[in-house]
Amino acid sequence: MQIFFSGTKPTGEHTHLGNYFGAIKQFVDLQNGENRTNIYFIANYHALTTERDGTKLVTNTWNILREYIAYGIDPKKSIIFIQSDVPEHTELAWIFNCLTPFGLLERAHAYKDALSKGKEASAGLFAYPVLMAADILIYQSTHVPVGKDQKQHVEIARDIAEKFNHYYGETFVLPQAVIMEETATVTGIDGEKMSKSYHNTISPFEDEKSLVKKIMSLKTDSKGIDEPKDLAGNIIYQYLELVGDEHLCKQVKERFLKGGMGYGEAKKLLAQAMLDYFAPMRKKYHMITQTDLENIVKEGAIQAKVIARRTIDTVRNKVGIV
Ligand code: TYM
Repeated sequence: MQIFFSGTKPTGEHTHLGNYFGAIKQFVDLQNGENRTNIYFIANYHALTTERDGTKLVTNTWNILREYIAYGIDPKKSIIFIQSDVPEHTELAWIFNCLTPFGLLERAHAYKDALSKGKEASAGLFAYPVLMAADILIYQSTHVPVGKDQKQHVEIARDIAEKFNHYYGETFVLPQAVIMEETATVTGIDGEKMSKSYHNTISPFEDEKSLVKKIMSLKTDSKGIDEPKDLAGNIIYQYLELVGDEHLCKQVKERFLKGGMGYGEAKKLLAQAMLDYFAPMRKKYHMITQTDLENIVKEGAIQAKVIARRTIDTVRNKVGIV
């Protein structure tokens, strides 16, 4: 039995193109495979490592959940829940904390990044990968669909599973990251990796005016309309490949390479293609009620808890917690 498990941290108002094409699109597509359990959650305890505004965290949690459903994660095919509704995750994280070597966490990118930027790193940020390992391992997950930036975290989860199995006997399955090569790292509007913390995101659910404005402001070189243009590093074309249909991509590619396609025209085509691609999801977003969301996560937490409880009972037994 394959168990697909993954999640998103509700640190911003919306998910962005990187979240969708790197991870969430996979959640939606993978739901249709046979003989598997799909579990997708909102990692609100992880968001606490950076979010200091409680009201915002609540709003963001429901927003991201609404977007999950609007994107097509289907409560009939997947277990969908909020991390804090299954406190077994944090219990397992503590047990893992007690056997995770300090050095393993010191090598984690997020922690190293925070240190190098002179940011104050909390114990929570340091132990972030341990809670993530607990999220994954508590469901005996076999596959974890994520973007490339989470690869190291999944590797740490494997290390922790191996450590536990070594001390207490075979208990945890070793999970593997599932990363889509073409969308492993989606670029942001400034050319860096798209990330909420870099303020360089485009969200499929943001206000139409702001979305179009961001696309029309994408930085390009100064080549004139008739000049041939490169596709490498061409952010307009990169985004078009994500949302445009084959015919449009081919046409734009040919005209970029030959000359005759100005950046302004290409941006307009891209903005329209992006709005078209996300139109059904944007429409669905507004049709989902708060009650729908509450019912989905209530049911999801019940189902998740059954699996999580089973693992925690085994673990408690093995480690000697009565
Ligand atoms: P988060 O919320 O930062 O991102 C959610 C998912 O989106 C992917 N992603 C990207 N993919 C491609 N290009 C980008 N620019 C880009 N930006 C983000 C991320 O790789 C991720 O898959 N730690 C996780 C949340 C988490 C989790 C888990 C995930 C907590 N526990 C257990 C999987 C399993 C995070 O912060 O994701």
